[in-house]
Amino acid sequence: MSILVTGAAGFIGARVCQALLEQGECVIGIDNLNNYYNTELKKERLSILLSNKLFSFNEIDLTSVDLSSFFDKKQLNDINFVIHFAAQAGVRHSMSVPMDFVDTNIKGHIAILEFSRKLANIKHFIYASSSSVYGRNTALPFRESDRVDHPGSVYAASKRAAELISDCYQHLYGLPQTGLRFFTVYGPWGRPDMAYFKFAQAIMRGETLTLYNGKHLSRDFTYIDDVVDAVLKVVSFSPPVDCARILNVGNNSPESVLYLVNLLEKFLKKPAFISVVSRPAADVETTWASVDAIKEIVGWEPKTSFDDGIEKFSTWFIRSDYL
Ligand SMILES: NC(=O)c1ccc[n+]([C@@H]2O[C@H](COP(=O)([O-])OP(=O)(O)OC[C@H]3O[C@@H](n4cnc5c(N)ncnc54)[C@H](O)[C@@H]3O)[C@@H](O)[C@H]2O)c1
Repeated sequence: MSILVTGAAGFIGARVCQALLEQGECVIGIDNLNNYYNTELKKERLSILLSNKLFSFNEIDLTSVDLSSFFDKKQLNDINFVIHFAAQAGVRHSMSVPMDFVDTNIKGHIAILEFSRKLANIKHFIYASSSSVYGRNTALPFRESDRVDHPGSVYAASKRAAELISDCYQHLYGLPQTGLRFFTVYGPWGRPDMAYFKFAQAIMRGETLTLYNGKHLSRDFTYIDDVVDAVLKVVSFSPPVDCARILNVGNNSPESVLYLVNLLEKFLKKPAFISVVSRPAADVETTWASVDAIKEIVGWEPKTSFDDGIEKFSTWFIRSDYL
């Protein structure tokens, strides 16, 4: 048996690969190592994975190759799970280069579904969606049963499109699928384009950080180890053949962005210099996940408090090369 993970050099993908390898699974990683953020960080994550003999890696762009041509028949027959995390992320980035989001998040999603549906022994296709699909919804907490017809950004719309395409592939080809709507994932080895990482850099450098105004600007920050645990629980769960499920993976406890800054000041032991600007239209004011469904289906709940998670991130950050 082997598990194919796309976006394996990414923040969540690398940590999921590591956890699968620790369980003795054979993992095939795919990533195009694009330069959306510091590629050294992607390579560093990858070098940890490559030290394990159960891990193999292919530097491939999902949108431009026929994936099946990279594997022989036995390798293809061995793949039981596909975990698809490769994406162009970044809500605000999607305002400047919307086409990049169509390429990876829609074309790339179809490419990996086409590959996966032809695998003889696939049991489950698991893919990353996002809390951003809840867009301009105001009813809190966000539930999977809510309508999601008003995305706030092209990124959100591309993730919703991927959910719909997945639903269609389940209907057409009977490929069991679970989409995971991740809520602001943070932690060691995280993404430098995300607010908590940028704030930490600004604090350490003595630079001014930019905070968006808004009375209740808050996020349901979810710690990486909890997210990895959720993915592993979904992998170990046998889905019904007609599964086209979508599950929230969040902390069920929104925290204000100002409190995030206060915690970073505490754990980095330096003051923050703050400039307040208006919130861009692509950024929603609040996110908050209901986790009732994932709790009921796979028995997962978040365990890490926000204070503990930010302390762990800060400890890693101070010792990293990314200050
Ligand atoms: N981190 C979060 O807070 C968060 C929240 C919601 C959803 N998500 C989703 O979770 C998934 C993983 O996110 P992440 O934070 O690890 O992001 P990431 O950017 O660190 O990882 C994505 C990886 O995909 C790779 N990639 C991009 N386009 C590719 C392509 N065409 N072919 C092959 N590889 C490609 C990138 O090089 C990168 O290493 C993404 O689908 C993202 O949209 C993340």
